[in-house]
Amino acid sequence: MRNVIIAGNWKMYKDLRETAELLDGLKSLLKSVKPHVTAVVCPPYTSLALAAEKLRGTPVRLGAQNMWHQDEGAFTGEISWKMLKSAGCEYVILGHSERRQYFGETDELINAKARKALVNGLLPIICVGETLAQREKGVTSQVVSAQVKGVLAGLTETDMAKVVIAYEPIWAIGTGKTATPAQAQEVHHTIRQLVGEMFPTHVADQLVIQYGGSVKPDNAAELLAQNDIDGALVGGACLKADSFASIVNASK
Ligand code: 13P
Repeated sequence: MRNVIIAGNWKMYKDLRETAELLDGLKSLLKSVKPHVTAVVCPPYTSLALAAEKLRGTPVRLGAQNMWHQDEGAFTGEISWKMLKSAGCEYVILGHSERRQYFGETDELINAKARKALVNGLLPIICVGETLAQREKGVTSQVVSAQVKGVLAGLTETDMAKVVIAYEPIWAIGTGKTATPAQAQEVHHTIRQLVGEMFPTHVADQLVIQYGGSVKPDNAAELLAQNDIDGALVGGACLKADSFASIVNASK
């Protein structure tokens, strides 16, 4: 059985006081998680150090929402792998559709970020997904496949053991419109098949592929029950302790 990873992407929500409140809630609800399940929270940068302190001794892991692909330098407003690691992060979300849309991130840049994260021991959660127009045109599979090829270019088999892919159809993000379990499963299967062509089969078999886009406590179990869905990247529903905890506990 593949591992399941449920990650909460807090996006640009929660100041320090709110961070403490949410994590205190999570700590009491997630004292233990199923052995094959990993729960990760990805707060904004300003909350990372506090979150690391709050999560010490709990099963909940820490991640960031983005990072720059160079070690250090004159990159105003950016953050490095080293800073994230020193703040206690183990994971980093890369190439979220909001980064692609508002900050012009390309597959090539996301690939550079993934390589930098991997070389330095951060586990990348790399996002892909189509727009509504692309889905309606019937090109979902081509679009997602091109993204997967681009973001994974040049990675090794060893790298791939640490990579998580998050399939997030853009039309399902923050809209309340979840992909049906069958729609999500179809794309997850395409991704796994493609990874099986790019790498040895066991890499594809072990790859954790998360679904993201309006995952809520009431639809999580059905999504997670699909063969190729191995976790969730949760936005809105991770901002409340009880709903995030119930998604973590919904996993197969
Ligand atoms: P929502 O769960 O709010 O749709 O957000 C999904 C997402 O973008 C997670 O990265």
